Amino acid sequence: MQHYDWWYDDARQVGLDFEDETQVATYDARQGGSAERDRALLEHLGLKPHMTMADIGCGTGILVREAAQMCKAAVGIDVSATMLAAAKARGAGCENLSFQRAGFLSFEAPEQSFDLITAKNALHHLPDFWKAMAFTRMYAALKPGGRLYLRDVMFDVPGQQLAATAEGWIVWLTQNTGYSRAEGASHIREEYSTFAWAIERMLTDCGFKIVEHVQDGVYGTFVAERP
Ligand SMILES: C[S@@+](CC[C@H](N)C(=O)[O-])C[C@H]1O[C@@H](n2cnc3c(N)ncnc32)[C@H](O)[C@@H]1O
Repeated sequence: MQHYDWWYDDARQVGLDFEDETQVATYDARQGGSAERDRALLEHLGLKPHMTMADIGCGTGILVREAAQMCKAAVGIDVSATMLAAAKARGAGCENLSFQRAGFLSFEAPEQSFDLITAKNALHHLPDFWKAMAFTRMYAALKPGGRLYLRDVMFDVPGQQLAATAEGWIVWLTQNTGYSRAEGASHIREEYSTFAWAIERMLTDCGFKIVEHVQDGVYGTFVAERP
């Protein structure tokens, strides 16, 4: 890959600091992740024993460990050494599971090497210009016919409803997850959750075909295929 002196440093944490030991130690309880749900998701995405996959922004590794048990090889990628340490501990014993300390803009993979890339609640750490760059890199790393699964906070309401939607989400977070009001507020203020239409346009401009788009409140999910 060509290196430019203006390239974004995606190793630095934006918003919540996922290098922080306490943040990571309490992450699973706060987030409410579930191996069963991730397995069902991977089945829905068509992950098969002959396939290879990568999970970018893998966090504590719940999804990528399930994936490793279902496919030929899985790679967990994350910028946080603390998250990766938790993911490695969780995946101990899975010989087809490897890890890379890198981000969307710095991961290394041969062209057309993955059947599936997943990115759950992680892409919002990048500003929009860099999200589009990330899509081009993920597109290049996917085999033709390979799929990208993207889930994240993204907005799909008219401008007049944005403030109420953000406020409603922060209140919902405090009532239904382990996140505090301050953490929800910092997500809106400092992280880069964008609009579903912007994500859709970035994906299609990059050459992806949208296979699925589901919007559930502020949580948007896209499944996109490299033709
Ligand atoms: C909210 S957690 C999501 C973890 C996991 N995917 C899940 O669904 O539970 C966000 C993760 O993205 C990672 N992250 C932050 N910036 C990143 C980047 N530029 N590239 C890849 N991962 C990043 C963080 O270290 C953290 O582990």
